[in-house]
Amino acid sequence: MRPDIAEAVALLRRGELVAFPTETVYGLGADAANPAAVAKIFAAKDRPADHPLIVHLPSADHLTRWASDVPGEAKRLAAAFWPGPLTLILKRQANVPDAVTGGQDTVGLRVPNHPLALELLAAFDGANGGGLAAPSANRFGRISPTTAAHVREELGERVSLILDGGPCPVGIESTILDLSRGSPVLLRPGAIGAADIARVIGHVPEMALPQTDAPRVSGSLEAHYAPRTPLQLVSSDGLLFALRDALVAGERVAVLAPTAQAISHELVSWRQVPADPAGCAHDLYASLRELDALGCARILVQKPPAGDIWLAVNDRLSRAAAGSGEDDET
Ligand code: TXA
Ligand code: MG
Repeated sequence: MRPDIAEAVALLRRGELVAFPTETVYGLGADAANPAAVAKIFAAKDRPADHPLIVHLPSADHLTRWASDVPGEAKRLAAAFWPGPLTLILKRQANVPDAVTGGQDTVGLRVPNHPLALELLAAFDGANGGGLAAPSANRFGRISPTTAAHVREELGERVSLILDGGPCPVGIESTILDLSRGSPVLLRPGAIGAADIARVIGHVPEMALPQTDAPRVSGSLEAHYAPRTPLQLVSSDGLLFALRDALVAGERVAVLAPTAQAISHELVSWRQVPADPAGCAHDLYASLRELDALGCARILVQKPPAGDIWLAVNDRLSRAAAGSGEDDET
């Protein structure tokens, strides 16, 4: 076993926190069966205690240790997409700690598709299907980390060990699908889209209305994934007007757009993102974090196109805009 994995397993078994890479974003992990360990996650993140956590598993083999009811659709989706960026919400087993479920009668489960995460999970308690509760390894409300350095920036000494697996390939959080209420409901869009899910279960899942259907999904709070610099979403035409206004006002301004830098000016910091949804998702959080660190008066983001394939990126951007510009969130 790699020495860093052995150290991580030892820490986790002692009830300590370990940050680890997944294909989506870095997670802040604790033994999901140990309520005292799970409590440390909430303290490290400054996260409200009633927000439930996703349990990460090494495979779909021991689902019934965590879920009391595994419908056929869950089995088919797990077979199709795990390991991968899909979280399934299922009815919980009674022994799952309330600290993990936020006291709800459901539990979120996923098998992440990252070699380090899978190695860690297998070494932690693979034979018995033990799991790691892990939210994204950022302070509550802030931009999720997609590198080990981001985790250090967010959590500093609050986490004992950070496993470094390089930049996360997907770059935004998993799709969350609720299978606990009869008909499937998409709670959080992600790299696996409604059409991908429909191909497996034969119909398109319902979309949750944020704040009403999914009040306990912290990723569904309107203000989330947010930089400290005010973030404004603009059209491609609007971008040039907003830039002009900022320059007339003498403001330093950051731009995130799929096009090459259109204006060269000492007050303008321009970051180009790929023009396809997967490429844009991959770069999104790292780019926002970089631009946020510049201390500009605002970040102008050119709004991606509408439509299903852009749903997850647009979802994260509109939440980032809603939560931006605050020193801290409650
Ligand atoms: O890609 C991901 O899902 C990443 C990586 C680390 O796996 N994790 C992640 O965790 O994004 P977190 O805690 O930042 O977001 C998980 C979301 C939260 O919004 C939480 O409320 C929701 O999942 N969730 C967890 N369990 C749930 C449940 N039983 N019912 C409804 N929502 C749940
Ligand atoms: Mg999060």
